[in-house]
Amino acid sequence: MSTIKAPVDPTTCPAWKALAEHKEALEEAGISLKDWFAADPDRVGKLSFDVADLHFDFSKNLVTDETIALLVQLAREVGIEERRDAMYAGEHINTTENRAVLHTALRRPKNEVGTVMVDGQDCVADVHTVLDRMYDFAERVRSGAWRGVTGHAIKNVVSIGIGGSDLGPVMVYESLRPYLDGPACRFVSNIDPNDMAEKLRGLDPETTLVIVVSKTFTTLETITNAREARTWLLDTLREQGAINNTPEAAADAVAHHFVAVSTNLELVADFGIDPENAFGFWNWVGGRYSVDSAVGLSLILAFGREKFEQFLAGFHAIDEHFASAPLEKNVPALMGLMNVWYVNFFDAESHAVLPYCQYLHRFPAYLQQLTMESNGKGTRWDGTPVTTKTGEIFWGEAGTNGQHAFYQLIHQGTRMIPADFIAFVNTPNPTKDGDQDVHEVFLANYLAQTKALAFGKTADEVRAEGTAEWMVPARVFEGNRPTTSIFGKALTPFTLGALIALYEHITFVEGTVWGLDSFDQWGVELGKQLAKQIVPAFDDDDALAKQDASTKALMAFYRANRA
Ligand code: F6P
Repeated sequence: MSTIKAPVDPTTCPAWKALAEHKEALEEAGISLKDWFAADPDRVGKLSFDVADLHFDFSKNLVTDETIALLVQLAREVGIEERRDAMYAGEHINTTENRAVLHTALRRPKNEVGTVMVDGQDCVADVHTVLDRMYDFAERVRSGAWRGVTGHAIKNVVSIGIGGSDLGPVMVYESLRPYLDGPACRFVSNIDPNDMAEKLRGLDPETTLVIVVSKTFTTLETITNAREARTWLLDTLREQGAINNTPEAAADAVAHHFVAVSTNLELVADFGIDPENAFGFWNWVGGRYSVDSAVGLSLILAFGREKFEQFLAGFHAIDEHFASAPLEKNVPALMGLMNVWYVNFFDAESHAVLPYCQYLHRFPAYLQQLTMESNGKGTRWDGTPVTTKTGEIFWGEAGTNGQHAFYQLIHQGTRMIPADFIAFVNTPNPTKDGDQDVHEVFLANYLAQTKALAFGKTADEVRAEGTAEWMVPARVFEGNRPTTSIFGKALTPFTLGALIALYEHITFVEGTVWGLDSFDQWGVELGKQLAKQIVPAFDDDDALAKQDASTKALMAFYRANRA
């Protein structure tokens, strides 16, 4: 039985009751960002923060001084600070798996060796031992010292993994493309054979390195894909006459072209990957919190050691801020608390993250696993039911593409959708259209959207444009749709690390208010178990007979139509 204290039911906290009353009072008085801005010339100043090269403007959120004070009071009443400290210290706050939660140890600098001891293990020392091995390996590959089985240097990397073993590396790879100076990477995740087929297209196995990334090394998709890639590698090398048909030649080829990242090094060895070429991590790193562990090996290959170190430094800067800034000025804490405000007091069901940066186009997908696998839960960390709504849906798309697709719903739909807008002052691709800086046109859109959402457009303003009276309501923008603006100087490895850590801690804050173990993921298990039971039913009538009526009918359609 865990020694972690039972969660505090937030709905029983004085601050919760006060927030409910406060919300009613705000509604009675009329929620109006326009009026709030007019009444308080320092609103923007009071609600703006600078952390880790990022500028945050919360002023267009539906909060007043009193809201912030009450949210902070709530955070104290549910014990956010204690739980944060317990997490950083390596207590087993992941109660359902009885594990420490120490992704923050992954980015502690070397001079902090000895500061985080868990179950007798010096976590920071272990982290740096693996990092040094990764840097050394990556340098050999990048410099051409590491050769494939036929003596060629590596030009391409295929990384095989899924969920936390894929979404982070892909997102970061895409985000940092301007920094690419190593082998090109392709990422295979889906067990749909189409994914592998497309990613292997055009590759020469003699110059390709495969990284199998799996925390457990048991994930069906990843292990199936790894076997498929091994078959492709060996068959193609044989067809090319590069290796002969002996088991020794196959083992030699796998040793030169396959490396692994896992916590399960025994299964890695069983797969035939040399333990020398395996990079470990630990059960205190959750899959969706692991991009800064050995799971990021492809990123070191692609961008090099220095960039990866800057990436880790960005995470660490936010970790330090989250650990030490008072809650009133603590950016991840305030963002998490505002999310709770919207979910629990305004019935917001989703939260949009809208990066005005094409390189961040996979960031919303990455955040979906981080936030929804963490907080999509109805049971608290002591096994009791939750007492409130939890886990909003995170979604988004790079601007301005989203503007021409779903922003209509955000501007004039009937649901509240709080949104984070992220942009950068500088672009690696400055471009002029005549005399006009195109990045500035792009940024004008970033600025215009939050302005429209906050301040809207009144019926009188619409009428003044000569709109027919019956059409006026359709053209009115209510405003008061909450947004947070995040503005960085540039999308660097450092700022990207900071952004990821920011959302990790936002997720933690929300999960703690709701009493959730944000680090387990039991909800994904049943589907995996059932898929294993269904596999034999494709051909075996006895296995099919055990299925439910709907599965039987779908299978009948499959059998009748399979080519
Ligand atoms: O599907 C759930 C999950 O367990 C994720 O939490 C995890 O990131 C993913 O599967 C992949 O797991 P592994 O890294 O063990 O292959």
